[in-house]
Amino acid sequence: MLYPVPAVLIGCRDKEGKDNLMTAAWAGTVCSDPVMVSVSIRKERFSHHIIEETGEFTISLTTRQLAEATDFCGVRSGRNTDKFREMKLTPLESEKIGAPGVAQSPVVLECIVKQILRLGSHDMFIAEVVNVSVEAQYLDESGRLELEKADLIAYSHGEYFALGEKIGKFGYSVRRKAVSPGSKAAGGRGGNSSRSRKTLGKHN
Ligand SMILES: Cc1cc2nc3c(=O)[nH]c(=O)nc-3n(C[C@H](O)[C@H](O)[C@H](O)COP(=O)(O)O)c2cc1C
Repeated sequence: MLYPVPAVLIGCRDKEGKDNLMTAAWAGTVCSDPVMVSVSIRKERFSHHIIEETGEFTISLTTRQLAEATDFCGVRSGRNTDKFREMKLTPLESEKIGAPGVAQSPVVLECIVKQILRLGSHDMFIAEVVNVSVEAQYLDESGRLELEKADLIAYSHGEYFALGEKIGKFGYSVRRKAVSPGSKAAGGRGGNSSRSRKTLGKHN
C-alpha cells in the first residue's frame, strides 16, 4: 500500500563467481551518515543466501530502457537462468566489492551488509554504501548529478511508470513566492466533504 517506490536491480556474485540479479521494490535509503540503505528479501530468493554469505550487493537504478529487464529479473530466478545473458545486460565490475552492477544503469551503489533483521516473510539487509558510480553523461561540468535526464522509472501497485512532470523542488513550499490575488491553498482539512473512506483488508 505504500507506493510508488523505485524498482531496483540487486546484483550479487556467489563464492564460485556466478553473477545474479534480482529486482527489488522494497529498497530505500535509511541513513545519510554513514550512507546506508535497506533492501528486504524473501529467504526463498536465490539471491538471499548469496548476499547473506558474501555480505555484499549492488543496487542499480532502473530506467525506461531497463524496464523490461527489470521485470524479467523479478520473475525469473538465477537458480536456472543467467539473467545478465538473457537480458543482454553487461556486468559492471565494482570498485570496492566483488558483486557486479549493471553497466547500462545510470547509477550503481556498492553496498556492504551491516545488519540483517529477520522480520518474518522478508529479511531486511541494512547495508553501508561504500561506493557510487555514475554514468558520466549524467554529471554536468561542475560534477552535479543530473538524474532528471536519466529517465528513471517507478513501481506502483504492480505497474511500472516513467516519471512524469516536475511539480516542485525541495523546499519550494516555504520559498517566497509572488501571491496572485484570489489564489487559495489546495486540500487541507474540511476540503471536499463528498469524499468518503473505507478500510481495506490485509494485502501483501
Ligand atoms: C517489481 C518487482 C519488485 C520485487 N521486489 C521484491 C522485493 O523487494 N523483495 C523480494 O524478496 N522479492 C522481490 N521481487 C521478486 C524477486 O525479484 C523474484 O522472486 C526474483 O525471481 C528473485 O530472483 P532470484 O531467485 O534470482 O534471487 C520483486 C519482483 C518484481 C517484479
